[in-house]
Amino acid sequence: MSSTAVGIIGCGNISSIYLQNCHQRFRGIHIAAVADIDVARAQARAAEFGVAKGCSVDELLADPNIKIVINLTVPAAHGEVALKAIAAGKSVYNEKPLAVTRAEAQQMLSMAEAKGVRVGGAPDTFLGAGLQTSRKLIDDGWIGKPIGATAFMLGRGPEGWHPNPYFFYQPGAGPMFDMGPYYLTALTTLLGPVNRVSGSAQVSFAERTITNNLNYGDKIPVNTPTHVVGVLDFAAGAVASIITSFDVWHSTLPWLEIYGSEGTMLVPDPNNFSGSIKIRRGGDSEWREMPLSHSFAENSRGLGVLDMAVAIQENRPHRASGQLAYHVLDIMHAIHDASREGRHMQLTSGIERPAPLPMGMDNKGF
Ligand SMILES: NC(=O)c1ccc[n+]([C@@H]2O[C@H](COP(=O)([O-])OP(=O)(O)OC[C@H]3O[C@@H](n4cnc5c(N)ncnc54)[C@H](O)[C@@H]3O)[C@@H](O)[C@H]2O)c1
Repeated sequence: MSSTAVGIIGCGNISSIYLQNCHQRFRGIHIAAVADIDVARAQARAAEFGVAKGCSVDELLADPNIKIVINLTVPAAHGEVALKAIAAGKSVYNEKPLAVTRAEAQQMLSMAEAKGVRVGGAPDTFLGAGLQTSRKLIDDGWIGKPIGATAFMLGRGPEGWHPNPYFFYQPGAGPMFDMGPYYLTALTTLLGPVNRVSGSAQVSFAERTITNNLNYGDKIPVNTPTHVVGVLDFAAGAVASIITSFDVWHSTLPWLEIYGSEGTMLVPDPNNFSGSIKIRRGGDSEWREMPLSHSFAENSRGLGVLDMAVAIQENRPHRASGQLAYHVLDIMHAIHDASREGRHMQLTSGIERPAPLPMGMDNKGF
C-alpha cells in the first residue's frame, strides 16, 4: 500500500505532535506540505520537521499530489478552510470541533459527498488503547447492560498555559466545544448515539486574565459559556450527565464512569490514548485493574487521519468520521440550546458506532 500525501493547514501549538506522528512515525501517510495564514510560521515548521514545503494555503491546495488536508486552524476558521479544501478536491480532517455552527458542518458534509471526498474529525483518542479496551470490555459484557454514565472536565481554563488563549473564550470553544468532543466521542463510541439532550450553561466571569508569560495580564472578554452542564439520553437506554468547566479551581471528580446492570467501569482520561481502566462488579469487594487489550497507548494524534487514508485505499468507512464529529457537535449545541430555551432537545443526527480496531493492530497493521 502506498503512502498517502497529506497537507497540514494551521501550524500552531498542536501541529508538532501531528507532524511527529503523521510525518515521522506512521508509515501509511506523510506530510507533503504545511501551510498557515502566517507563511513564515509554516516555513519554520517545515524546516523543523523536514517537510518538503512550507507555503500559503492556496499553494498547498493547488498541489495535486495532496489527497488529504489536516485542518489545525482555530475553530472559527475550521469551516472556511475545510470548504476550500473540499472545493479543491481534497478529503479533509478537522481538529475539533468539526465547525462552529451546525449549518457550516452540514455544508461541509454535503459538499464532500457531492465531490466524492471524505470528511474526518478529531478527536481520535477513542482509537487509543484506553478507550478501545474500554469498549471491548463493555461489548464483552463485563459491566452488563449500560444504564448510566458521568463525565467531568473541571478546570480553571487554558489562559495559564496556552501561548495564544484568546480563541478559547469565543463561540466554537469554551469548555464544552473545546473539551466536550473528547468526552462525547468516548461516550458515543462506547454507548452509541444520543437522542435527547438537556442542559444549563453560564458565563461565570465576564473576562479572563492571561497568566502565562507571553501576554501576561492581558484581558480576554468571554463570549461563550464557561460552565456547561448537560444531560444525555442514549438511544440504547443509558442516561449520562456531563459537566465541562473553565471556572473551577479544584475538583476530585473522575473523568468518565460507566454504570452497568452488573458493575461499574472507570474509564481513563478521554483526552489521552491510554490510562488505567478499573472495573468493580456487583459482588466484588475491590476495584480490579484491567489490562489493556489494544495498541496505540502512546500519544497517537493523527491516528484518525492514518485510518482515513487507509480506508480510502481499502474502500471502507473510516472511523473518526464526519458523521461522528457532526453528532458530537449537534449534542454540544443542543446542550446550549436547551439552556437558552428551557427545554429538552430531540436530536435529528445519529451515528453507527465505528468498527472497533482489531486487537493487536499497531502501526504496522495500517
Ligand atoms: N493546543 C492543544 O493542546 C490542542 C489539543 C487538541 C486539539 N487542539 C485543536 O487544534 C486546533 C488548533 O489549536 P492550536 O492550539 O494549535 O491553536 P494555535 O492558535 O496555536 O494555532 C492555530 C494556527 O492556525 C493558523 N490559522 C488561523 N486561521 C487560519 C486560516 N484561516 N488559514 C490558515 N491558517 C490559519 C494560525 O496562524 C495558527 O498558526 C483547535 O481546533 C484546537 O481546538 C488543540
